[in-house]
Amino acid sequence: MAEMLETRELRMVYQDGKQEVVAVAGVDVRFRRGEIVGLFGPSGSGKTTLLSLLGCILKPSSGSLRLFGKEVTSLGEKALPAVRKRFISFIFQGFNLFPALSVLDNVLLGLRIKGITGEEAEQRALRVLEEVGLSERSTFLPRDLSGGQKQRVAVARALASDCPLILADEPTGNLDHANGRNVMEILRTLAHEKGRCVVVATHDNRIDDIFDRILFMEDGSITKETDDINKLRLMRELTTSSLR
Ligand SMILES: Nc1ncnc2c1ncn2[C@@H]1O[C@H](COP(=O)(O)OP(=O)(O)OP(=O)(O)O)[C@@H](O)[C@H]1O
Ligand SMILES: [Mg+2]
Repeated sequence: MAEMLETRELRMVYQDGKQEVVAVAGVDVRFRRGEIVGLFGPSGSGKTTLLSLLGCILKPSSGSLRLFGKEVTSLGEKALPAVRKRFISFIFQGFNLFPALSVLDNVLLGLRIKGITGEEAEQRALRVLEEVGLSERSTFLPRDLSGGQKQRVAVARALASDCPLILADEPTGNLDHANGRNVMEILRTLAHEKGRCVVVATHDNRIDDIFDRILFMEDGSITKETDDINKLRLMRELTTSSLR
């Protein structure tokens, strides 16, 4: 599989008043085309911060980030929005839907931000809404959808923009089991059948079998990594019992 994203000694230190908080403490990690990767770890371990660095929303304090072999960290602030627009889609827990816009218009707005408008945008939006099973609800407002349906609109938006890298922060956090799995299965299909790279930060142990690979974060570092789900479950049991 081709390398899409690679970090070296990536570090993020927040200034919290007089105190420094090391949120990401020198992470070396690689992500490839066609894989879906789970980022697990306790609250405060640095998952959201790492995703924000990978997505070029935050500039790291030090270290490097290479996207398709090109160094991104040395680019100026002005160049980053263009990188994000072309390569990266985000899915957040809170859905980020505009309440006054229909399902279709929410997807179209996501496309407009990426510079895609007109007939092409409309066709794409309708196609992806069909892919996530929401064709019949394209004229609904978000308030008339269930949590799972709203999250699928957010996934449709990521799908429509056709970006190679999809970063999701707690995408199943507000969903019941069936809806959570449904959203994750769509994301897995995107990775496996469309060659996207999908990275998901989550606490949701019920979806751990979806991932090709799992990274476990503690105190800003990736402390464990496995592609074996049974090992992961054992690891988690050991971590939980050591905390008791
Ligand atoms: N803007 C900020 N300013 C100062 N400290 C921050 C900021 N954002 C996060 N932190 C701190 O950085 C550390 C990592 O936070 P982060 O949100 O990345 O963790 P997380 O693993 O996503 O947690 P959760 O599972 O609760 O979402 C925490 O100690 C947090 O308090
Ligand atoms: Mg978080």
